[in-house]
Formats: sequence, structure tokens, C-alpha cells
Amino acid sequence: MKVFEANISHQAAGLLNEKLSLVTLFEIANKKLADDFGILNFFGNQQEYDIFKETISCSSLIASEPDRTEYGDFQTNSNLAKSVSQFLRNQKKINPKIIIEPTCGKGNFIVAALTVFQQIETIIGIEIYKPYTWESKFSIIDYYLSNPDSNKPKIEIFHNNVFEFDFSSIADKIKGEILVLGNPPWVTNSKLSSLDSDNLPQKSNFKKHSGFDAITGKGNFDIGEYITLMMFDAFQHSSGHMGFLVKNSVIKNIVYDQLQRKYKISDIEKLTIDSKKEFNVSVEASLLFCKLNKSPHYTCKEYNFYQSAPFIKEFGWVSGKFVSDTGLYRHSSYIDGDCPFEWRQGVKHDLASVMELERSNGNFTNGRNQETELEEDLIFGILKSSDLKQSVISQSRKYTIITQKKVGQDTSGIRQKYPKIYEYLNFHRELFKQRKSSIYSNKPDFSIFGIGDYSFLPYKVAISGLYKTFSFSLILPANNKPLMLDDTCYLLGFDNLEFAAYTSILLNSDITKEFLQAITFADAKRTFTKDILMRIDLYKLATLFPGQDIQKEIDTLNNTFNLNISINNWTAYVKTLKNKRPSAQMNIFSGKDAES
Ligand SMILES: C[S@@+](CC[C@H](N)C(=O)[O-])C[C@H]1O[C@@H](n2cnc3c(N)ncnc32)[C@H](O)[C@@H]1O
Repeated sequence: MKVFEANISHQAAGLLNEKLSLVTLFEIANKKLADDFGILNFFGNQQEYDIFKETISCSSLIASEPDRTEYGDFQTNSNLAKSVSQFLRNQKKINPKIIIEPTCGKGNFIVAALTVFQQIETIIGIEIYKPYTWESKFSIIDYYLSNPDSNKPKIEIFHNNVFEFDFSSIADKIKGEILVLGNPPWVTNSKLSSLDSDNLPQKSNFKKHSGFDAITGKGNFDIGEYITLMMFDAFQHSSGHMGFLVKNSVIKNIVYDQLQRKYKISDIEKLTIDSKKEFNVSVEASLLFCKLNKSPHYTCKEYNFYQSAPFIKEFGWVSGKFVSDTGLYRHSSYIDGDCPFEWRQGVKHDLASVMELERSNGNFTNGRNQETELEEDLIFGILKSSDLKQSVISQSRKYTIITQKKVGQDTSGIRQKYPKIYEYLNFHRELFKQRKSSIYSNKPDFSIFGIGDYSFLPYKVAISGLYKTFSFSLILPANNKPLMLDDTCYLLGFDNLEFAAYTSILLNSDITKEFLQAITFADAKRTFTKDILMRIDLYKLATLFPGQDIQKEIDTLNNTFNLNISINNWTAYVKTLKNKRPSAQMNIFSGKDAES
């Protein structure tokens, strides 16, 4: 049965119908409901009360569910809400006096808290969607119908926008242990802007100077994250705890920002839940737990919510560095520094159907199955992430047209010099024009990105940014032409084979793998980014790598791939690494001896 579009059980409707049948004024009805169930201000005004009475005296009204995407509406099921509350009571020994549920939805956390915590004196719930505020109140009545002797705290459910709610006035008034409990909306600001929704805090650029971009590259955030921070702002000086179900990315960002924000929160934990099972969504999410009003902590311990046992790992800040596994990091942190060489992203063209080619019958076939003859000069083999499976690669499945030697280069010369290529590109001109990214606007025809001198160096060491395999491939020229990488890959370019081979050996060492595992996050869109790779101090790695190990690895490469790499250039290589280190470069500019 539905009242105000909210579900109400027949039991609760029947009881209210009976209890209020002789009551005409809403203030008297409110007093009765506060006495019986602790819920304050049940009805907002007389009109609301009249409609309510009329509705519950009729039979059920079926209302269709509106689209609630912009509200990040994933209601916590009663079982999960209860096990979270039990976990907080049994494992964390929490026995709060005040519960704050900032976006209480249908009230499942409120009912769970009533069930589990016996000393609550006040519950405050806020919810933007009116039918849910009713449903929360009806659920509370249901709870008391089944548990008439249960503790009855004062409960107030506000129909309000959480972003406009004054939490600080509550924080000033409360006395006793507080528990901020719930599951804030799961929706990002960019999703909201695509829906043209204004369900955002006014200061929605709150991330602007936080260094957040360094982690996600997007400036995109979840409104659940903003609400979590609002709770810290309001209650970090109140004695108590927080238990919030949020996306893993929210927890990562909160811990990341903690270095700068220094909220008085400690013992931060992330307890992973199965969101497919609980919410039927494929988003990694967890229970975020922390203590309030404590000296700030900057790391977060990870556990599985369902298994009372083992600690998985800890992530967060160690000596000013943000890492995904503090234990692993402590072993390998000595190579955390600056890479002497510059990592580059591969070629970007955003037009695979035209620019990705395969050889067939001496011609080239594109993704639209069009076969064409093209001049070889501008054609290069190209490797995608899925091609980087071997330690040494010297051929490609795919080819591409490299229209420029560097970004922005004039392409008008192609027409005269390579008429077949020009004809092919020109035939697909409209598709080039339709490329969405703004990087292509006002650029020469058929422009590409991720191209420069480094692209044409014959030897490369490369890794896929997307895959979670911690292995680097040594790329050799194919038919005397350098192989290119696509923009899902990162590469270092070399003009001599030895330097490239030594680099690939260092990067594939156990210590590099351990270091990368310690600083990358499995749930990141790209496991490896330029920022991550630039942290590998190859010079330190090289100086600590035992000589006999290098020789052994070179022998393996030579024997497995029929190469002829020698160790003779190793000393020159280490010297180059030393001279190219940023600290050495600064010494050169400041007149100090880089060799000293
Ligand atoms: C993920 S659901 C969780 C609901 C409830 N906390 C639970 O655990 O079942 C998020 C809730 O936030 C509500 N909500 C979204 N935007 C809101 C806002 N600006 N102010 C208050 N509530 C909001 C939604 O209507 C929805 O009920």
C-alpha cells in the first residue's frame, strides 16, 4: 500500500487509521505519535494530515516509481543495515546516544540502529525525497508494533536537502557519543551535469585545489564524498564514530585529501562489501569506519566486511607519499624518486576504424573492411595494450598512418608527397572532423597526438596503462622501422639497444614490481599513469642491482630471443642515469658538479 508515494505496511496503516480516527488536528496527532513512537513532528501541517487520513482510510494507491538517478538512490537492504550496526556494536564496541543519518532514504539504517543499539536517546534523519521520509516513519512504527517494549529515543525525520541542512547547530547541542551512520548517494557530479541536475553542493568545485586531479585526472567526484566531508566538518570535534557505506573511490579520495584537510578522524578502516549482491551494481564499495574527535590519522586499513578475520592491507600516506600498500612500500620505498628518463604516452588518433590498419595482399585494410594501397613511408607498426604480452616484441599485428612528426605539425605536404595516403585520409575527412575531443579543434587536418622525437627512436620499453600486469616489454624495430605504441600504453624511447634492454631488466625486477604494487590502486581506471612511472628512480635501482644479476638477465634475453646484448655499456648506462637525474640537472644549472 502507498501513502504519499511511500510504502506503508497494512499493519501500520491499520494501526494509524484506528489510532487517529477521532483526531482532527495535526498537532494532536503529532503529540500522540511522539508519545507512542518517539517520532517528532510526524505531520508537517494540517493539510498533510488531512490527506494522510483520507488516503489510509481508502484502499491502496499504486504510484509508479519516478527516475531517481540524480539522487544516487541505492537503498541499503535491512539485512546489511543490521549487520553493519551489529558490527559496530560487537566488533567496535560502540553504544551511541545520538544517531545521525544524513540521507536516510526509507529508513533502513534507522530501524537497524533501533534494533541493535539500546541506549540511543536521539535519532536525526534527513532525506530529500518526501515519500522516503514517510516510509522511514512508517517503518519505525512497524518496528515498534513488533517490538513494543523497545527503547524509544526522540526521532526526527527532516524533509530537507542535506546540502542546506545546518549540522553544526546539532553538533553544538549534542551531549554524548554520536554515531554518523548511513549510505550517502552514489552519483558523481559529472553524471549530475549530464542529467542537468542541481543535486549538488553550492561549492561543487570544492576539489579545485586539493591535488585530487593528480589521482583521478578528472576533477570528478561523488556527492557521497562531499556529504562524508560535511559530516567531518560538523562532527570531527564530537566524541563518536562514523559508519558509512561509500564507493571505494570515495574512501581513497578522503584518505588522499586527509594530508591537507587534517580532519580529527582516526582508526580509519575500509571494509569491503559485495555491492553486486547487496545493491545489484558493479561498483566497488565498502563500509568506511572511523573514530571522531581524535588526532588525525593518514592511513586506512582494509578488511573484508563479511569475514571477521584477516587484515588485507593498509593504504595512505607514508613520509609524504601516497601509497596503496604501506607494508610493501616500506620494503621498496628506496626507489621512490624521479625517473631520469621521461615516460611518454603512445599515439592518440581517436579514429580506430580509419587509422588502424592490417596488411592484406600487399595493401592495407581498415576497420571498415576497406582495402587500399598506401605509400609505406608514413605507415608504422603499432602495438596496443593487448599486444604487450611478451618480454621482447619485434613485430605488430596492426599498422597506422603517422601523419605528423610532432604535435601540431603542418600536414599539407602529405597531398603532394604521398598522394595515395592523402586520398585515403581525405576520403575519411568527415570522420576526422567528427572526432569529439577538443584537442583536435583548430589543429592541422588529420592531426594525431602523443607524437614526438621519442616516437621514432628505434628501441622502446613499454607497459600497458590499463592492465594490472606489472611487466614491461622491450620493443625492437620491425623491418628497420620503429614500432609505435597506442595511447593506452606508456613508453621510454632509446637509440641504443643496450640501454633499452638494461632498462627493461631493471623495470621487470622483483623490487620494481613490489614498488609498483605498493603505489598503484587496483580500482584505478588506469593502473599505470605517467605520474606513477615517473616515480621509479632507475638510477637507485641500477646502483643497487647486483652485477651478476644483470648478466644473468642479459643471458636470458639473449638466449630466449636470439639477441646479442652485452653488459659492456652498463657503466655508461649508470652514468647516464646519474647525470639525467633531476637533482644532477639542478646541480648543472646551479654550477655544481653533477658527478660529485
Ligand atoms: C544511497 S541512498 C541510501 C539511503 C539510506 N541512507 C540507506 O542506507 O538505505 C541515498 C539517499 O540519499 C537521498 N538523497 C540524495 N540527494 C539528497 C540530498 N541532496 N539531500 C538529502 N537526501 C538526498 C536519496 O533520495 C536516497 O534516499
